[in-house]
Amino acid sequence: DLSGGQKQLVNLASVLILQPDLLLLDEPTAQLDPIATKEFISLLQRVHDELGITVIISEHQLDDILPLSNQLWLMDGGEITYQGPVAGGLAAIWAQPALREFVPDVPHVFLQNELIAPADIAALPLTVVSGKQLIERQQWQLTHAKRKIATNDQVTILQAKHVSFQYEKNDPYVLDQLNLEVHTGDWLAIVGKNGTGKSTLLKLLIGLLQPRHGAIKLQGKKIGKWAQAELFKTVGYLSQTPSDHFSYDSVRQEFIERARQLKRVTPEQVAEEMLAKLGLQTLAERNPQDASGGEQQLIALGIVLLAQPQLLLLDEPTKGLDPIRKRALGELLTRLQAEGLTLIMASHDMAFSARFASQCALLFDGTIVSEEEPYAFFAHNFFYTTTINRMLRSQLPEALNWEEVHA
Ligand SMILES: Nc1ncnc2c1ncn2[C@@H]1O[C@H](COP(=O)(O)OP(=O)(O)OP(=O)(O)O)[C@@H](O)[C@H]1O
Ligand SMILES: [Mg+2]
Repeated sequence: DLSGGQKQLVNLASVLILQPDLLLLDEPTAQLDPIATKEFISLLQRVHDELGITVIISEHQLDDILPLSNQLWLMDGGEITYQGPVAGGLAAIWAQPALREFVPDVPHVFLQNELIAPADIAALPLTVVSGKQLIERQQWQLTHAKRKIATNDQVTILQAKHVSFQYEKNDPYVLDQLNLEVHTGDWLAIVGKNGTGKSTLLKLLIGLLQPRHGAIKLQGKKIGKWAQAELFKTVGYLSQTPSDHFSYDSVRQEFIERARQLKRVTPEQVAEEMLAKLGLQTLAERNPQDASGGEQQLIALGIVLLAQPQLLLLDEPTKGLDPIRKRALGELLTRLQAEGLTLIMASHDMAFSARFASQCALLFDGTIVSEEEPYAFFAHNFFYTTTINRMLRSQLPEALNWEEVHA
């Protein structure tokens, strides 16, 4: 019954209780909110410093972890291709343009703007504080990314009014008098701490749970009044646990069977196209249950996209994705958005939300407490913001990611 992030914290606690000599962590923070991530990493630091436990972490999200690490290893094609100090590792990654996306935001800005000479690589800043000491020597400029701007003639696709929900009669309310209005063509990112009710909200929006009070309307019609088959064609839902979506022995079969259920004329061809769209051709014959975390995420998305929904609900879609796949996903969803798809996404990934969403909302205490376009939203937040924003906000309050800032 726990939320995704709560489960992860329970797992981590039960591992730490064993007081091992060596701690191996496989993407430990992928489902943690930004504050829980920082708390967990400082706990790891204490475990390491005070108990002398060796820690090995495999991770895509390096911003917070690299400053504590004394070794960085890079794996490629089943081999360790770099092994050594962190700054040197980042330089080695930077030297391969195809891998640059792996360099986290703070060092990325300095390398991108050529503010650190290759000879000074050991001085490459990794934290916001060390970055701040260097940025002040420069003038910075901001170029805003192009995104969909809200216009006045917007059409409401989904509306939640005074929605309250509790799992059991005597449980506390998870959602309390929540209001939400989403327009056609929006990409709304919902952020908030672990266990705050983001996944619960998405399940209510697709009718998997029913509100105790209040109403949810899709295209003006109450969710409960939609015929299920019609609803599942109009709204796609990617759950926080991608394996929930799998029922066949190969990825290709998953796609073909789904295309058949949807009565597509050429299911085989439709399946091939979706494999290509998501770059999954090499996995076509594999059992989806045996795919890696990030691969499962993309396979489940493919199954959902086959229905060509008008509204897509995504629960932590970037977890487990490496930075390159993450960008490809963002760009794919942006293309679909341009074709008229509406997206609602629950995410702990501030950089991804800041880069791709057109609206951001904070869920807190059972209700949406703020909703704005990304620049306004993140400029006013302290924890729920991007690393680049924390580093550069005194000079450029609206700086959100490295692509948009120039020295
Ligand atoms: N089936 C369930 N029965 C009872 N309580 C539940 C159930 N599922 C979730 N909860 C509780 O409801 C609250 C909201 O959970 P939810 O999964 O919506 O959170 P979330 O915001 O998605 O969190 P996370 O960021 O960790 O994914 C949590 O306190 C959770 O423990
Ligand atoms: Mg969740």
